[in-house]
Amino acid sequence: MTISLTPIFRRATGADFAAAAALMNSYYVDRLSPAERREGYLLATFTAEQLAAMDAACAVLVAHVGENLAGCLCSADLGGASIPPPAKALRSFLQGIDPDGEHFADDSTMVYGPVCIDRAYRGHGILRGLIDRLRGLAESRFTTAVAFVSSSNPKSIAVHRDGMGMTVHGEFLFAGERLVALSFPLRVEGTFRG
Ligand SMILES: CC(C)(COP(=O)(O)OP(=O)(O)OC[C@H]1O[C@@H](n2cnc3c(N)ncnc32)[C@H](O)[C@@H]1OP(=O)(O)O)[C@@H](O)C(=O)NCCC(=O)NCCS
Repeated sequence: MTISLTPIFRRATGADFAAAAALMNSYYVDRLSPAERREGYLLATFTAEQLAAMDAACAVLVAHVGENLAGCLCSADLGGASIPPPAKALRSFLQGIDPDGEHFADDSTMVYGPVCIDRAYRGHGILRGLIDRLRGLAESRFTTAVAFVSSSNPKSIAVHRDGMGMTVHGEFLFAGERLVALSFPLRVEGTFRG
């Protein structure tokens, strides 16, 4: 498929949260066949209310192509009180490899993800556009973004490590799942926009 309309990347609002939850939940691991999982999957489901809360605490971004939701990207503040349990496990892992908080300090580190691109729009730069928009919003509040990906999701690992240039820091266990920890730099000065 070719995309004839220019994608729009923006902060989620209003009805976007329900649409984004529906998109993400359709790629929940248990709803996909083994063949479909090879194209990536999500480890959790979300409600519109949870996404709205994530946006209020940090940012949820959406990509639209015309009227269609092509993808969405969630984020959280690593130091936030309400980060989800696997992000808390990531935080503990990072504290283990960076005990002085030199690289992953709570007050300057953002959690990137989950991210999901509708199958019809994959391979068209939507992910890169969402990440660029996230950087624009976040670079003044955070210096670094960290992420976790299931070690059983090689598509996402390849895209984020090899395609987007993120650094792999090792693996940690959460709820019996081996998760790969990654990071990438944002920029430094100013205050959060968006
Ligand atoms: C994982 C996912 C977000 C990736 O989105 P996508 O549209 O398929 O990604 P793209 O094909 O645009 O790849 C992104 C970039 O990585 C590059 N890339 C992909 N695979 C690569 C590889 N093996 N080696 C090097 N570069 C690679 C692409 O060329 C592209 O680069 P570009 O932006 O310069 O064109 C999407 O497949 C998805 O939503 N999957 C289901 C849910 C999921 O797994 N989410 C992630 C959970 S952590």
